[in-house]
Amino acid sequence: MAFAITQTCCNDATCVSVCPVNCIRPTPEEQAFGSTEMLHIDPETCIDCGACADACPVDAVFPVDSLPAGQQEYAAMNAAYFERTEAEGEAEAQDTGDGSGPNFHPWGEPVFDRVLPSDFGPLRVAIVGTGPAGMYAAQDLLLHTRAEVTLIDRLPTAGGLIRYGVAPDHPATKKIGDTFARFLTHPRVRLHLGLDVGRDITPEELAAHHDAVVYAVGAAADRRLGIPGEDRVGSLSATDFVAWYNGHPDVAPDAVDLSTERVVVVGNGNVALDVARLLVSDPETLTGTEIARYALAELRRSKVREVVLLGRRGPDDAAYTRPELLALKHLPEVDLVVDDHDPRVGAVVDGSRPNGKAAVLRDVAREAVDWSVPPDASGRRRIVLRFLSTPLELCGDADLRAVRATGGDGELLIPAGLALRAIGYRGVPQTGLPYDEATGTVPHERGRVTGTAGAYVVGWIKRGPSGGIGANRVCAAETVGTLLADAVAGALPAPTAGTKRFHRLARRRSHR
Ligand SMILES: Cc1cc2nc3c(=O)[nH]c(=O)nc-3n(C[C@H](O)[C@H](O)[C@H](O)COP(=O)(O)OP(=O)(O)OC[C@H]3O[C@@H](n4cnc5c(N)ncnc54)[C@H](O)[C@@H]3O)c2cc1C
Ligand SMILES: NC(=O)c1ccc[n+]([C@@H]2O[C@H](COP(=O)([O-])OP(=O)(O)OC[C@H]3O[C@@H](n4cnc5c(N)ncnc54)[C@H](OP(=O)(O)O)[C@@H]3O)[C@@H](O)[C@H]2O)c1
Ligand code: SF4
Ligand code: SF4
Repeated sequence: MAFAITQTCCNDATCVSVCPVNCIRPTPEEQAFGSTEMLHIDPETCIDCGACADACPVDAVFPVDSLPAGQQEYAAMNAAYFERTEAEGEAEAQDTGDGSGPNFHPWGEPVFDRVLPSDFGPLRVAIVGTGPAGMYAAQDLLLHTRAEVTLIDRLPTAGGLIRYGVAPDHPATKKIGDTFARFLTHPRVRLHLGLDVGRDITPEELAAHHDAVVYAVGAAADRRLGIPGEDRVGSLSATDFVAWYNGHPDVAPDAVDLSTERVVVVGNGNVALDVARLLVSDPETLTGTEIARYALAELRRSKVREVVLLGRRGPDDAAYTRPELLALKHLPEVDLVVDDHDPRVGAVVDGSRPNGKAAVLRDVAREAVDWSVPPDASGRRRIVLRFLSTPLELCGDADLRAVRATGGDGELLIPAGLALRAIGYRGVPQTGLPYDEATGTVPHERGRVTGTAGAYVVGWIKRGPSGGIGANRVCAAETVGTLLADAVAGALPAPTAGTKRFHRLARRRSHR
């Protein structure tokens, strides 16, 4: 029968370590792990023990004969990963690293890549940010050392983008928050919510009371298009839109007006797909999720019939992942259409290799969309994928009326009352830390902040705003490894005060 991994996989590799026959690929030791969209189970080797399904924090693993509706394709997708030709990477899919074949763990001499500092007192480490990066760092420190951890977040609720980013119609993904939450009450953890480092407490105060400070502050801002009209009413960042439907305290309940029939979303990443899906989904399917009550009310009043996704690249090179695109094909009562404005789009879809992103679109309708015709108010809602198209201007008076965009059919106006730029997040400068303006990150060497002894970075503020939840696990392991090596080398500056005093200070200044 075999098991298969499905859409919600976040690549954290928890399943890899519990599989008794080592049939889940790629493993974190393999090069392909860095770029894979998800992990896969080899149906030929799987012995149906179910250990991976029990261990998966986001309920992504199912027996193939009981895959949920809309996820049946994953049986074939898992199997196809192992059927690829040698040229396409069979070696990479099968390689265990020691040439012993896929069925055996490569047990060799134990390798200790980390010296545990057991000959001195417990380290006192502050972690700023309770998103996945901060929580993986905390987990690593708590499970592998005797460190005492101070966890801090500026928001009143822990979780970072698990709470305020992941879409409410992905409850399985949000469940990873439960795994992280177990560490919030660990006996060696002190948690301070509603405490903004830089505003309520200075980095110097933090450093003075701890051996090391790990900054896991994410990438809170958004990128700008730099085109005329970007500040018109009706032009919003997806960062704000996502924060709005997730009830983020920084975004006002009335920040979004859905009284328009057409929305243009600029960008082709998974965030663009999230916001498009939320805009056309039946609001009743969101009842009982973590969506903000006012957002659900606005979605119920919504006049939106059509969402146009503007992607500047072609269908094989889009930034979204295949599982998230596949999910759009299965949205109840919603049509998915490819705008046939440029012959290159259809050619790429027809000529795509079976595992390519464009292949997902082979059975999707193509239409030369007539933008002068308003979306069909009586018909089903739909998402239009317009590839090879770039926005030039957000046009209108005070309010947005249309998006001027390029395409195979020349420049044209797409009438719309709301434009969301989903073109990526961006890190913001942190008080007391260096900052690379070009990348929006803090310069570092393997997680150690350049030129700032005792300060470390992890997650999106370290790598830039890309990669799913699981990517932060590997990232945290590197940073914690560097921190511990520095501790052993005596390279951490000595704190000048105890943590008890810090906790008193933090309680006084917290805005919780
Ligand atoms: C909209 C969206 C949806 C996503 N959905 C998925 C998904 O379904 N599956 C998936 O695998 N990945 C998803 N991702 C990616 C995933 O969320 C990221 O990989 C991950 O959250 C990055 O972790 P982080 O800890 O670096 O940042 P964050 O999660 O942003 O955490 C940063 C934390 O730091 C806190 N902070 C910031 N500044 C300060 C300060 N000065 N003082 C105190 N605290 C501070 C913030 O409040 C926040 O809690 C999504 C990303 C986005 C943007
Ligand atoms: N369900 C999930 O698993 C999930 C959900 C949400 C987010 N995430 C992850 O979170 C990370 C961030 O996602 P994201 O969507 O914010 O970023 P992203 O994947 O980097 O996508 C950004 C998109 O914006 C486009 N873009 C950038 N600048 C542009 C410009 N000036 N004009 C037009 N288009 C522009 C990019 O095009 P180019 O590709 O041409 O640069 C790309 O299509 C990703 O790793 C994503 O996978 C995962
Ligand atoms: S989310 Fe983690 S445990 Fe679940 S299938 Fe993906 S890699 Fe395995
Ligand atoms: S069901 Fe068991 S054998 Fe099959 S992939 Fe999962 S852990 Fe491995």
